[in-house]
Amino acid sequence: MRLDKWLANMGLGSRKEVKKLLKTGMVNVDGEVKKDGKVQVDPSQHTVTVNGMEVEFKKHIYLMMNKPPGVISATEDVQEETVVDLLEAEDVIFEPFPVGRLDKDTEGLLILTNDGQLSHQLLSPKKHIPKTYYAKIAGTVTEDDVEAFRKGVILDDGYETKPAELTILHAGEQSEIELIITEGKFHQVKRMFRAVGKQVTYLKRIKMGDLALDEALELGEYRELTDGEVAVLQSSAPTF
Ligand code: URA
Repeated sequence: MRLDKWLANMGLGSRKEVKKLLKTGMVNVDGEVKKDGKVQVDPSQHTVTVNGMEVEFKKHIYLMMNKPPGVISATEDVQEETVVDLLEAEDVIFEPFPVGRLDKDTEGLLILTNDGQLSHQLLSPKKHIPKTYYAKIAGTVTEDDVEAFRKGVILDDGYETKPAELTILHAGEQSEIELIITEGKFHQVKRMFRAVGKQVTYLKRIKMGDLALDEALELGEYRELTDGEVAVLQSSAPTF
């Protein structure tokens, strides 16, 4: 990887700022001053220092995206725009992938990472990681639906869902609800409502485990998780 790109990724500034930094002669690779950002480095093999301080090699990247409708939760596709297409090149080089899927028309919290272990933990059916959705439903959602979801409903393929917590935010011609499910079957929320004769008209994931979507992120925007947020995710899916 190019030295300037890597330094920018490690948070040492924009590509422009990194260029200036390199010019100062403060950047060393394996003890040698490097002023040319085009130099190739393998950060897992080389020791890079700035002003005598070692720059720590970042192996994993953790991103939170507010997924917009119209893009698919995949890394690449020949026809469709993917969530990875929305990332900056400096993040794509870490080869992040989405943790689980949101439907093309679903919005909201999507984690992208290259940490296969964390992804596996979060998706493991054994872990029962709660996922919270906000949805708009055509028709009136009732206490009977709340009770049916609490007990489990039978989906179109005969599968009986695990208990889910349905909260009615507004009941009317167009109802608004929050739903917490602990599994991730294909189109699960939409199919659960279909099982009680209703249709989801808008769906947004707002929480995964204990990590909530940063509402400051506009649709299609994303940011790195803070160390604290990564810890929150990890504790949502402990390895023990
Ligand atoms: N359930 C759905 O039906 N769709 C999603 O995208 C996520 C959960």
